[in-house]
Amino acid sequence: MIIRYKREVRPIKDQTDFIKESLRQNRFWTQIMSEHALFIREGLPCTETALIDEARQLEQIFANLKARADQTPNNQAAVLALNQDVIKALDRIIEFKTFVLKRMITCRLGGFNYPLLIDHIRREAIRFRANLLKLNNNIQTPVAEMALEEEIFWLRIMGDHARFIAHLLDPSERPLVQRATQFGRNFETLRLQGEDLQSMLVPQDYENHLLPAAMMGEPLPPGFDNLKGPFVIPRLQRFNGEVVQATMGIRDFKAVALELVETCTVLSLISPLLASHVLREAEMALADLGRIEQELKG
Ligand SMILES: [Fe+2]
Ligand SMILES: [Fe+2]
Repeated sequence: MIIRYKREVRPIKDQTDFIKESLRQNRFWTQIMSEHALFIREGLPCTETALIDEARQLEQIFANLKARADQTPNNQAAVLALNQDVIKALDRIIEFKTFVLKRMITCRLGGFNYPLLIDHIRREAIRFRANLLKLNNNIQTPVAEMALEEEIFWLRIMGDHARFIAHLLDPSERPLVQRATQFGRNFETLRLQGEDLQSMLVPQDYENHLLPAAMMGEPLPPGFDNLKGPFVIPRLQRFNGEVVQATMGIRDFKAVALELVETCTVLSLISPLLASHVLREAEMALADLGRIEQELKG
C-alpha cells in the first residue's frame, strides 16, 4: 500500500484538519456505537445476563465518550487523548461484537439479531477505529485509493441497510419490501462497479487482498508491492456522483420510513431508533462523499 507515513510535528493547517476531522468522527460515531450496544442487547435472549450486562456497560461508555467529544476544545492534546480513549473503547466493543457474532454463526447463541447485522456494525466500528488510528499517526491515503475505499465502504453499508429494512418490514408491506429490495440490488451493482474501478486504479489493493490477512503490515518478500501507484481518472469523479445520487435516494427513503415508523403507520419490526440510526448514517455517508468530491476536484 502506498501511504505517506509521517510522524514529525504537524504544520498548522494539518493541526486544524486533525482537530476538525477527529471531532467530526467522534461526535458522530460514539453515539452510533452506543446505539449498537443497545441494538445487540435488545436482540439477545433474556437468559444471557453476562452479555446483556456487557452491552449495557458499552452503551454507557460510548454515551459518556459522546458527551466528552461534544465538549472537547479545539486543542491538539485534548483531541489526541480523546482519540486514544475512544480507540480503547472500540477495542472492547469490537471484541464484544466478535464474540457475539462467533457464537451466533456457530449456533451457540439465539435471539433476534441477524448475523449480518453484527458483522455490519463491527465493520462500522473497525472503520471508525482505523480512521482514528490514521488521524493519530498522521497517515494519509492517496486520493484515488481513499475515494474508492470510502465509496465501497458506504455502498456496502447502504446496501446492507436496504436489505435489513426489507427483512424487518412486515411481509404484508409488499410494495415497501419491494422498494427496499430494489435499493439493495442497486447498491450491490454500484459496489461491483466500484470494485472494478478499484482494481483498475489501485492494483496494489487487489494484490494485498490476495495475501494472507495476517501479513498486512509485514515486510513483503521481493516481487510484491511494486505495482503502479493509484491515480484519478474522470470516470472516478462521475462514479462518486453516482454514489452520491444513490445515497440521496436511500436517504429520502429512510426519512419516509422513519416518519411511517414514528406515526405507527407501517407494520414492521423496525424501532424508531433504528430507523433514525440508519438515516443518520446516510447523512454521514453524504458528508464523507462530499469531502471526496472536493478532494477529487483538487
Ligand atoms: Fe450503525
Ligand atoms: Fe449501519
